[in-house]
Amino acid sequence: MNIVILAAGIGKRMHSERPKVLQPLAGRPVLSHVIATARTLATSPLIVVVGHGADAVCKAIDAPDIKFVLQADQLGTGHAVQQALPFIDLALPTLVLYGDVPLTRASTLRRLVKAAANGHYGVLTVTVDDPFGYGRIIRNSAGRIINIIEQKDANSWQREICEINTGIVISPSRRLEAWLSSLKNDNIQREFYLTDVVEQAINDGIEIVGVQPDDIWEAIGVNNKRQLADLERVYQRNEAQRLLDAGVTLIDPSRIDVRGTLECGSEVLIDVNCVFEGHVVLGNYVSIEPNCVIRETTIGEGVRVNAFTYVDGAHLGKNVVLGPYARLRSGTILSSNAHVGNFVEVKNAVLGHYAKANHLSYIGDADIGARVNIGAGTITCNYDGVNKHRTIICDDVFIGSDTQLIAPVTVGSGATLAAGTTVWHDVPARALVLNEKTQVEKLEYVRPAKKKA
Ligand code: UD1
Ligand code: MG
Repeated sequence: MNIVILAAGIGKRMHSERPKVLQPLAGRPVLSHVIATARTLATSPLIVVVGHGADAVCKAIDAPDIKFVLQADQLGTGHAVQQALPFIDLALPTLVLYGDVPLTRASTLRRLVKAAANGHYGVLTVTVDDPFGYGRIIRNSAGRIINIIEQKDANSWQREICEINTGIVISPSRRLEAWLSSLKNDNIQREFYLTDVVEQAINDGIEIVGVQPDDIWEAIGVNNKRQLADLERVYQRNEAQRLLDAGVTLIDPSRIDVRGTLECGSEVLIDVNCVFEGHVVLGNYVSIEPNCVIRETTIGEGVRVNAFTYVDGAHLGKNVVLGPYARLRSGTILSSNAHVGNFVEVKNAVLGHYAKANHLSYIGDADIGARVNIGAGTITCNYDGVNKHRTIICDDVFIGSDTQLIAPVTVGSGATLAAGTTVWHDVPARALVLNEKTQVEKLEYVRPAKKKA
């Protein structure tokens, strides 16, 4: 089967510089959802017809299995499909999808393909409460589809019809080629309508079969920000239901957003207002408190992520405890039972088993051993203004509060850094390090009093 995806339209009603098909749905372009579904149906290259914002669309979507075809002027859906013809295999049927209809189920499309086998022309139709703006499906008294009439061309009784054309069709390709070449644009919009093929097909004795999706949202296109937001909610509701069906506990299924792929083990609990981006894996018994953002991260069994935590590009071992208010940046690896607490930022660093940084610290470009205790206010000074350097802290080191480690620096195992130490040089194992500072006391000190006006 050939698949042609129409994505050349302008999308004026988005009021956006971004082409309509690149508007984000669940964190990726609307068009990429269509492509993902198409890939499950066909092994042949996918033909994407681009026009408005073509450069941006090609750049965002480019992949080895996609053939882009330019439709320089958008002269209508029939004209768009015609541009793709030189690249299709005429011996196989052609399925036409819209780049702005992102949530059609693959199973629905398979039903359409099956219904149109044996050289029929298949149309995906849906019955809606408000058909305004869509092409209407005209059936004869026997219930057969005999035409599709656009809103702008429809007469008053045709406008009453609530069964509409989704735009998704499948056709025998050689016939399609012939029908498209004789299309006329003698309609109100002066466009070459793909829908006009139906009448020609009937004249050639081809049967038109209609197939309906299980859900109306499968056929909804995104033409404006309202529809985009509506479909986002549909997508997220479906995703939440998938997680619930797999046994994940969601405190409120309407308050989770998955913008990528979320894999969960058993007994996972996710509280409200969490956002998952990219590929995220949660092991068994993971629990996530409210208001966390987790991107591109793998989280091991039994990890507790406390509220307001932001994790991006990290790998967490078993039983780690995070937050509240922790921030893990890319390249963070926390070994089992490590704790990273409130207002601690970790970047490109490894924390060993049972290492703890519970309060107000910056740990960047560092290797921290097992059982290291990092006191509040500790900073790895990794940046000299030009280059980044690494801090190495071996096992069982104790770091007192308000310590600065000027990288590159290594602290040997079992060493103790007193509170308020600035560490410039490597520290031998088991040493105590402190900076000489004296505590000065002035007795009976009187604080200045506020002057009277
Ligand atoms: C089209 C259908 C209408 C159907 C509706 C469903 C026709 C004539 N009408 O109308 O029956 O109910 O979709 O949403 O087919 N496109 C191109 N090049 C063009 C024109 C369009 O690539 O020259 C693409 C658009 O990017 C879009 C799709 O085709 O993805 C549909 O185009 P649009 O202008 O939205 O068609 P409608 O008037 O909505
Ligand atoms: Mg449209």
